[in-house]
Amino acid sequence: MAKKSGRKETNEQEFQGQVITWLNTEISKRALGLDTATQEKPRKTSGHRSDMIVWIDRLAVLPFLAIELKTPTTPINDPAFFADALGKGRYWKSKYFALWNMRDFEVYETTITNPTPANAILRSTHPLALTHVDDWLKANFKKDLHEQAVEILDAAVNHNISGISNQRAIDPEIFVSRLTEDIGQLRTIFYKDLKKASNTDRKLRKKLKQIATEQGFEGFVDDIDYAIAGQIGYRFIGQILFYFALRRKIPALKELQVSPTDVLPAALKPFFDDVRRYDYEALFKPEPIEALVPVGKVAQAIIRRLIAQLAVYDWASLTDDVLGSIFEHLIPRGQQILLGQFYTPRPVADLLVASTIDGERPFVLDPGCGSGTFLMSAYSYLAYAANLSHKELLSIIWGFDVSPFAAELAVINLYRQDMAEYENFPRINVSNFFSRNQKDTIEFPASQAASGTQKVPVPIPQFDSIVGNPPYLRSQNQDDLDPDYRKKLFQSAVAAGFDAGAKTDLFAFFIYHATKLMKNGSRLGFVTPASWLTSDYAITLQQALLGTIRIQSVIASNAESFFPQVDVNAVLLIAEKGPKDAPDEPIRFVTLKQPISVLTGGNGEYWARVVALAQELESNVSVENEKYRIKLVDPACERKGLNDDRTKPRNWSKFLRAPLSYYSIFKDVA
Ligand SMILES: C[S@@+](CC[C@H](N)C(=O)[O-])C[C@H]1O[C@@H](n2cnc3c(N)ncnc32)[C@H](O)[C@@H]1O
Repeated sequence: MAKKSGRKETNEQEFQGQVITWLNTEISKRALGLDTATQEKPRKTSGHRSDMIVWIDRLAVLPFLAIELKTPTTPINDPAFFADALGKGRYWKSKYFALWNMRDFEVYETTITNPTPANAILRSTHPLALTHVDDWLKANFKKDLHEQAVEILDAAVNHNISGISNQRAIDPEIFVSRLTEDIGQLRTIFYKDLKKASNTDRKLRKKLKQIATEQGFEGFVDDIDYAIAGQIGYRFIGQILFYFALRRKIPALKELQVSPTDVLPAALKPFFDDVRRYDYEALFKPEPIEALVPVGKVAQAIIRRLIAQLAVYDWASLTDDVLGSIFEHLIPRGQQILLGQFYTPRPVADLLVASTIDGERPFVLDPGCGSGTFLMSAYSYLAYAANLSHKELLSIIWGFDVSPFAAELAVINLYRQDMAEYENFPRINVSNFFSRNQKDTIEFPASQAASGTQKVPVPIPQFDSIVGNPPYLRSQNQDDLDPDYRKKLFQSAVAAGFDAGAKTDLFAFFIYHATKLMKNGSRLGFVTPASWLTSDYAITLQQALLGTIRIQSVIASNAESFFPQVDVNAVLLIAEKGPKDAPDEPIRFVTLKQPISVLTGGNGEYWARVVALAQELESNVSVENEKYRIKLVDPACERKGLNDDRTKPRNWSKFLRAPLSYYSIFKDVA
């Protein structure tokens, strides 16, 4: 008995070995985009033979098909057989799984929600007449079994290629989790490659540090390489996902297909160049960050697999809401921090927006827009206050960012505000703010461009409002800036009429340069570190804020951090550009005692409540209550103080700290 079962086992193993040989012959002979077929250590121990797996890339652990083989005595419709096969497919995370009892076979997709026997993508039509495992050794059966093995493989391969005819609805949750997995895998690979390359390449190490410094995350993330690797991974995934989304509205775009022998990312270029005829430069223009590490074989396999997976979905029937929510959830806010992307909490951005933007069709700019927090806030505010359409809003809301990754997120975030609109071209540009000057032109699609690819040069306008949270630089990181970039910062300050001190923080240069792009009567609303209220470098800044642009308010909070992800004491600055001889208005030093979200809570329209708070804080009298303290200070007195002693800044932080009662006791303190 024991001998007999031993013989049977041997025969099954031998048969499996034969099947692997057949499959590998097919794979190598026919350029199927597959790597190899192998026998793997089974997921269940004791009493089970090896698992048969066909791989897209074995090195990258990208399985394609898991075959559950049983002897002819197990009926094909045995529920336990199906459950075993499905379990194996899920365990290996293979795209397809198959049941085969040497008589019949069935092939399924593992990736659909809860597959059942009704979902087979192919079943054998003619059962073979084998009754015992040994029968495979007979020549006629051997030939038939060989054919069945190839049929099983072909069923999965053909379905994979032409799955488009079998398109499926998108389940956003599964979809996002799959994309997240791909991003994670790519990031791990790029991280390893970056680390390896930078260990032996000093120039690359310097470059990575510079990127982190310029994007403002040096010193704020634990691992620069990890952040940059994530940015590269996300950029690929974001581009591909966005391409599929765009094809829903621009059918002239070609179907995104890459063959197993295509080299990536080169093979993607023609597709991405095609989109750039319409717009979306911020997403599809090749950027140096993508070329920091070569895309190795494994990463290429993941990107290829992603494209193949996305192609089987029914994009045409996908609603804008569902796609919008996929984009929204693709990178959770927490992840953005690890990617070096810091963002301002929305209530903070909203208060600055409501305090800064004015007019029926104002041009608004965030010069370092990140993922677009301020731009989305401005969009929402103007949709409420000025009742403008999506297309109109996109034409007046501008964003620059040096980081292609950030700009990509900003485009996606504005784009998804109304995906039903054909003219959906956000004015986001991957730029160094200091290289952008008024009247420079940037190509954007002409109005009514949906049917064509006409682009027109649009001059950078004078802005009615400049808002944002520009990068800060710790003084110890100043030396990591590229010397040419540093030079440019100082030159831009001079060009704007300011003599910036040596230790000037990066955000102050943003203020100086912004003044050149602001209309008379326009406002600037920035989140800034509080250092300039007292630091030496701030003399020039304080002078500027009492001259070319006039400080309206400084807002601090005792109840929350305005920029919680970064260990910096932040305040809000609101300033207005006016003619030099504009009459003085008092400076308001505001200290909030409750979080902004509490101060703007209540019933009725959200924006009406935010505007009400913004107006309340522009008080023309000093006031203190349980919500805030506002201390009014005479700018003429501060100007005189700065002129009398040009070696020291004024100490403005004291106005944010002392209770109003202090001033009535020490009348001359200010
Ligand atoms: C602190 S983040 C702010 C992001 C966004 N404004 C927010 O508050 O959510 C600063 C952004 O400025 C960008 N940045 C840094 N230097 C820049 C420059 N010279 N020109 C344009 N953008 C820049 C960084 O890439 C980063 O996305």
